[in-house]
Amino acid sequence: MAGSLRTRGKFRLGAAFLALSLLLTACLPGPPEPPPPSPTGSPQPTTSGQSADTTVHFTAQGDIGVGSGAKKVLDVVAGLKPQLNLALGDFSYEAGIEQQFCDMVTGKLGTDFPYQLVTGNHESDGHEGDIENFVRCLPNKLPGLQGEYGTQWYADVPEKNPVVRFILVSPGIDFRNGPLDYSRDSDRWRWTTDAIDGARAENIPWTVVGMHVPCFSLGRYDCQAGEEFTNMLIDKKVDLVLSGHDHVYQRSHQLATGTSCRGLVPASFSANCLADVDSSTVQGAGTVFATIGVGGVGLYDIKSKDPEMGYFAKWSGRNQNPAMGTLDVNATSSDLSARFVPAEGYSLTDSFRIQRK
Ligand SMILES: [Fe+2]
Repeated sequence: MAGSLRTRGKFRLGAAFLALSLLLTACLPGPPEPPPPSPTGSPQPTTSGQSADTTVHFTAQGDIGVGSGAKKVLDVVAGLKPQLNLALGDFSYEAGIEQQFCDMVTGKLGTDFPYQLVTGNHESDGHEGDIENFVRCLPNKLPGLQGEYGTQWYADVPEKNPVVRFILVSPGIDFRNGPLDYSRDSDRWRWTTDAIDGARAENIPWTVVGMHVPCFSLGRYDCQAGEEFTNMLIDKKVDLVLSGHDHVYQRSHQLATGTSCRGLVPASFSANCLADVDSSTVQGAGTVFATIGVGGVGLYDIKSKDPEMGYFAKWSGRNQNPAMGTLDVNATSSDLSARFVPAEGYSLTDSFRIQRK
């Protein structure tokens, strides 16, 4: 994306010179000049597909608040200098202070930074902030975004020759008129599967799905994202699924369905659903889930006897390795590398990598 912005910046500069020279020409006496060359001399992609060195660098976290934890995590994000941040819901935890939240974000990251939103349960029905207000004060900054920003959208980054398709959805969340329908074959289910299938059809190297609520979790909550919807993401081998909601950090092994695992069942564990259990995995074998509900607001405990624990490679909560922080991801056409970066005063680390075949 930085590349495309840079290209557009040069294009604008070129256009400005062009306009200036046309103006000067018009002011001077003498025969009209031949038409100037079109400004296509500005750098253009010369190859089809992704260039080998295009990197998409993004951060992601949810459950933020407006306190010192949020500010410390935003300082980490600012220091990492990503191209965009996925804010995975639960922003201000209070109605009427949406602008204060937005000012905190733009004060740390700048007004042009793509701080990309998907709603949490605290602002979806307006009771502790209103997603409509957040969308107004932190509007979409990704060109070509499709869908409804803040609730259900996808965008390819960079817009031309993309490396990542980001798909953000809102299952398991109460809106003013109740939850949105993500049941099998509903419009929103099909919208999601079309976005995933479309990325594959367009040979976009990576598909990252984000939503506020997780399904599998070692914290407080059960499968709010929906068992069928979550298994659909695994069946389709989405590379990485991100969430917040449970105020913990947890990152799964690569999970897969197949002949020996018909589908993952919440609140249970089957080793047959593990595709790869080390931190270096290969694309297409399954899906990695990460919950980063540690964007600034208080932490929840890890349930150390949670039956889903066998699915996870790393976890952190109030009672075990507590940490606020962010996920930090770099994706190229051949490799997706992710790590947890703790905020000041915390020491948790985690990293994993998915390579393309
Ligand atoms: Fe939350």
